[in-house]
Order: sequence, then C-alpha cells, then structure tokens
Amino acid sequence: MPQVFGKLPIHARSWTTLGAVTSVEKDDRGVYCRCGDALLSVTVLTQALIRVRVAPTGQLLPRRSWAVAKDDADYLPVLMGVQETEDAIEINTDKMLVRIERDPCRIVCMDQAGRRFAEDAETGIGWSENTVAGWKKIAADEHFYGFGERTGLLDKRAERKTNWTLDALDYTTLADEMYQAIPFFMALRPHVGYGIFFNTTFWSQFDLGASKPGMWQMETHSGELDYYIVYGPTPAEILETYTQLTGRMPLPPKWSIGYHQCRWSYESEDVVRKLAQEFRDRRIPCDVIHLDIDYMNGYRVFTWSPKRFAEPAKLIGDLKEAGFNVVTIVDPGVKYEPEADYTLFEDGLEHDYFVRQANGEIFHGYVWPDKAVFPDFLKPDVRHWWGDAQKALTDAGVAGIWNDMNEPAIVDRPFGDEGVHIWFPLDSPQGPAEEQTTHAEAHNLYGLGMSQACAEGLERLRPNERSFVLTRSGYAGVQRWSSVWMGDNQSWWEHLELSIPMLCNMGLSGVAFVGADIGGFAGNATAELFARWMQVGLLYPLMRAHSSMKTEKHEPWVFGEQTERICREYIELRYRLLPYLYTLFWEAATTGAPILRPLLYHYPNDRQTYALYDQVFLGASIMAAPVYRPGVDHRAVYLPEGVWYDWWTGDRYEGSTHLLAHAPLERMPLYVKAGAIIPMQPVMQYVDEHPIDELRLRIWPGDGEFTFYEDDGHSFEYRDGAWATTVYRVAADGEHTTVYIQARQGHWTPPARTVIVELVGVGEQPFEDDGSDRTLTF
Ligand code: GLC
Repeated sequence: MPQVFGKLPIHARSWTTLGAVTSVEKDDRGVYCRCGDALLSVTVLTQALIRVRVAPTGQLLPRRSWAVAKDDADYLPVLMGVQETEDAIEINTDKMLVRIERDPCRIVCMDQAGRRFAEDAETGIGWSENTVAGWKKIAADEHFYGFGERTGLLDKRAERKTNWTLDALDYTTLADEMYQAIPFFMALRPHVGYGIFFNTTFWSQFDLGASKPGMWQMETHSGELDYYIVYGPTPAEILETYTQLTGRMPLPPKWSIGYHQCRWSYESEDVVRKLAQEFRDRRIPCDVIHLDIDYMNGYRVFTWSPKRFAEPAKLIGDLKEAGFNVVTIVDPGVKYEPEADYTLFEDGLEHDYFVRQANGEIFHGYVWPDKAVFPDFLKPDVRHWWGDAQKALTDAGVAGIWNDMNEPAIVDRPFGDEGVHIWFPLDSPQGPAEEQTTHAEAHNLYGLGMSQACAEGLERLRPNERSFVLTRSGYAGVQRWSSVWMGDNQSWWEHLELSIPMLCNMGLSGVAFVGADIGGFAGNATAELFARWMQVGLLYPLMRAHSSMKTEKHEPWVFGEQTERICREYIELRYRLLPYLYTLFWEAATTGAPILRPLLYHYPNDRQTYALYDQVFLGASIMAAPVYRPGVDHRAVYLPEGVWYDWWTGDRYEGSTHLLAHAPLERMPLYVKAGAIIPMQPVMQYVDEHPIDELRLRIWPGDGEFTFYEDDGHSFEYRDGAWATTVYRVAADGEHTTVYIQARQGHWTPPARTVIVELVGVGEQPFEDDGSDRTLTF
C-alpha cells in the first residue's frame, strides 16, 4: 500500500466549513467572496466553464507550471451578468447560472431550464489540518463516469476513487489506486450533464455516495480547494471543454494505429527477425514490433545489449524495409553505477538531475537494473536532458518509445539486498528552484513529466516524422504527450470484459489513444480467449498484443489454424477500416472526442445506456457487442432508438429494441446506424504498403454525414495546411437515396484513386476522385 497518510475517513474528522459571506468583490472575470478569513473565488472562463477556488487562509496559492494547459488568463473575457440580492450573488452566462448563497456560503449551478447541478450539500466546503474538501448533492438517477483508469464497470456511483499513481500489478475489480491518476469525472442524468476537474496533484479522493448516499465529496491534501465545473449537458460537450483545459492529443503517425506485436521479450535480433518474417509469410498485417527490457545492456536505459542487439541500426533498417516500425521500452530508473562508465548516470549525477531526499542524499530504489536512481522530471532541464538521451535509440532508427514503471514503481519488485519496501519519501524536494515542491505534490506527475520529456525530445530528434509515445502512468492531460495502456492485465475472461469499460472511462477522461494488452499480459490464454480478445482488440484505439516472459508464446499463430484465421480476419478488418479510424484520431485531436465510446456518449438521455458496459461505439457509426465468455455463441444486444443494420448480414432492425445475436467464435456482432458512411481501404500488410488506389465508401441507407480527414500520415506538414477533408452526405428520399460529395478542402492531394460508393444492399458506383463535388443517386 502507498502512504495513505494515516487519516480517519472523511466523515469521521472534524471540519471547519465555509461560513457566511462577509464581503463581495467583482471584476470582469468573476466574483470573490470573503467568508471570515477564507476567500472564495468563482471565475467564469467560458460560457460553460467555471473555476471555483477556496483558500482557508484567504490567500490563493500561486499557479503551478505543471497545471492545466490553458491558464485563466488565456481565456478571452466572457459576457456574463452578475446580480446581487439579499440572499445570494448570481452569475449568468449564456449557458448556465451560478448562484452563491450568502449564509452559509454555498454554490449551486442551474441550466437554462432551472435544473440544478453541482449543488453544494449542507456541509459545502471545509478544511481540516492539511486537507480541504467539498461536498455536493447527488441527484436522483445521477451516474458517474471517467475518473481516468479504473477497473470495474462503467458507472462509479457508490464507490470511492483515490487519485494516487501506483504500479497496480495484479489488479482486479477491487483495485482503487491505478497507474493513472486523473481527477476528472462527469455526472449524467437525463438532460443534465456536467464534469468536475479537481485541480490538485496531491493525493486526492472522490467519494461518490459511498459514505453517504445522496452526497458526493472530494478531498485533497492541499492547502486550497480548486476545481472546475464543466457544463455539458452532453458528454461530447463536456469533453470538448475539458480537453480545452487539459489539452488534446497530437495526431499520431498512421502506422501506430495499425497492429502492434509485443512480448517481454523478443530477446535478440534473431528472434525479432524471425517474428517479422512470420507475420509477412503468414500474411497477417503488422506495423509495429516492441522491444521490451532485454534489448538493453544490463537494463541500463538508453543502451543496447552488445551481445543480443549488436547491430540495432541494421536490424531496424531491415525491418523498416519490410514495413515494420520499432518501439523500445524505457524505464525511469537509471542504474546506480558510480564505478562504471555509464554516461547517463554520470551526467545525471554531475548536473544534479536525480531526486534527492529531504536530507540531501540521492534517493534510490530497486528496479530492473537493481539499485537505481530517478530523474526529477518536474525540472525542465531534466526533461530536456532525458529527451535528448533518447538519441541512442532514435539514431538506430527507433520510431516510438514505450515509457514504463513511471508511477514511479520501485518497491513491488522484490529485488535488492535490503528487502524492505521503500517509497519515494513524500518530503523529498522536487521541481526547479523557483517552483520547488515535494514528492507529495509531484508523485502523480511523474509519468506525465516523463511522457512530456519523451515526446518533446522525440520531436527534436525526429523533427520531420511523428513519433509514437506510450506510457503506463500519467495525470490529467497525459493525452498531450502520450498514448496509454492499461498495464499488467491477466489472460482472464474477466480482464477481457473489463477492458472495454476501462478504456471507455479513459476516453471519458480526455485520453482517447488507449489500449489493453491483447491476450492478457500475465498467464496463458486459451485459443478461444485469444480469438475473442483479438476481435475486441480490433476496437482498441491502440491495438497491441503483449505477454509476459513467464507465459507461453502468444503470437496470433500459436493457437492453431482456426485462431490464426480469426486473428488474420480481424486484423485485416482493422486495416480496411484505417481511413475511418484515422479520421477518428483527427476528431480526438481536434475536439477531444473519444475514439471508443460507451453508448451513453451518443444516447445520454436513454437510461438503458447508463450501465451498459459491454457494448461500445467505435466512432459514431460502428457499434460492437463482443463476446466475453467461453462457450458463448449468442448474446443479448441493445439497439437504441433509430434504424440499425447488422454489419455482417445487412439485416435491418428498428430500435429501440433488444435482440439475441448469433456470435459463433469467428463472429463479433457489429452494427451500423442507418445513414452511416464508413470509408475503407484494401487490406495491406502494413499502413504504407502501397498508396490507397481504391477508397470504398460503405454507406447504409438513411440520412447521415461524415467528414473524412486525410494527410500524409507521418510528417508534421498537416500543421501547415497539408491536410484534406471531404464531407460526404447521404439522404434518403422515398424510393431513392442520394449521396452528396462536397469538394475536397485543404492543401493535401491524395494519390490517384478510384472511389467506390457502395450503398449497402443496393449497389455501387465508382468514379475517379479528382476532389470535385458530385452527386450520386441510387
Ligand atoms: C512491466 C510492464 C510490462 C513489461 C514489464 C517488463 O510489468 O507493465 O508491460 O513487459 O514491466 O518490462
């Protein structure tokens, strides 16, 4: 267990709560109320974004450079009205009203129809020793989603969620602290939806009615309560605003949305070459091979094993020829080696880059290289140094970095001679001199800082190519720097099932590029589990299979002919869907929309979707109902309102309805909505195998629209206008269906191609794509 600070539960402590408003000040940003010694500040950042801060001392804390991406001052002033009455001060924006009651000082928000949300409970806001807390009412039929990386199902009502990054090895449904700590959630009920971002990197916790049904609470070990209220009401609107605040993902290289193969470890050049050959011989598409810790020389970061990887540049160059990109793992623990010639250690020591304890001694722990020291990623110069050190990998041709063990994890691997569990002391100083803090505030930021160092470094080292970045740990905003995987899962049916709600909640927390290890990391999958997992893996934004060293082999062909065929078919489908998928990544990068979405994302007023965790949308058009149990070949499926089609058979259904889907092992039930437009390409063995000379637009009868995004998929030229968007629209009109194609926008020209417009079940019309507008009638 981490340091859980030996405190009594929140309800058993005594709190000083915010008293009556004693004076009020206003400016063009908001309202500032003195309540005795304490200060409440309510500022309006956009029509739908409010920041609330309470300083018990009356003095607001200075801004931290590692906080939200967008500072208050970066928001344009907002048109708002402030009225003072005897009982309250009311702030009106176009979208919402914030009412601050005077005695006692309490906050309630209302939408334009007067529906109340984020309403303070009786206790309101309080403080006790070094802790601040807030209490709010839970409305009837209110449900809670997001919270970053979480096990369990979708809705977190009646649960307690701690935000403290941890190597959550062997996690189950009962796990609380996870690898990621993202103190953000959204609360939904029919027609009302809002998000809360708890702006603290210290240990914090949400209690969603676990202690007291009807009340949720947040507490943190900080000197100030600081949170943002994000009004929706839809999840899409909440995420758009929340990701403006904490940032959005950059467009990844297109190859990184192909299939990734990983294992701890493909331990030599020979093994890696054979693996790559096997994929090509068996015609199973694959773009990425990951190298786990054994490529290093004695687990020294940024080195290559002279024996097993003697010629990394040659290996990676040959793999590149064959269409593979290589991603290497990097751990933050730097081998402690005072006597040897390990430059990274020497440099770090010389420049004082490693975390020290309060007594000034360098802190050490035990990880893969045995005794190790840890860079202080809160310092900009350390991030720069670390980013540049990746040159040892990029010089050999490495195109992506997989950051691991950065919670930071040290003690749960019983290495070393001391045999005791040592944690980073909470009082160890971290950060640059002008902004120094302690590990208590920096802990949750360790993985985020490492990811930032990595992403910024890779952009310096590979200025013309987008790189792939993956991390295990992170904090709110991690999406700006990295994709995320769900750590060490197991080859269990339960973990297959868990992966979808886990990834959905990550998406609802602003992190769209996410995946779980296909096949399960620890333990041995059966052929059936592996086949089902590959089907579900097709839906993961990050499609990576990985397995631990003690397990049997887990490549797509080791389970026999039938499993191999199923894996090939679903990986091929992934590649056929790449034009659609890449557009979803662009949407995530520009609006913050998740790629994988629970049904409530598109149907927030349909109560049936609130707990529905085992069906999922891939973008707005494709809905999957996977199988998560052995021996099961039928499953219940819920189709919300509207017309739906079965992807495989073309059968038509009227929602809302339930049906029993036939799902033999080779079939994962997939559905599309009427009016769906899905751009598809021919199967390729890797993303850029050859130019897309045929683009198939699969369109299902109905009314719909899709904006298709393209660019070169690998450079940064899209930032200077080298992108293309095409709007496709379909409209059903009695007997006929018309497809409208708008003229292509942007300055990127795709290679010459035939576009085949397929109205599913009706017919096809091909044309040569010259980017001009046209209308087709079926
Ligand atoms: C950690 C990672 C896992 C990796 C292993 C060895 O357990 O989560 O993915 O394979 O370390 O590096």
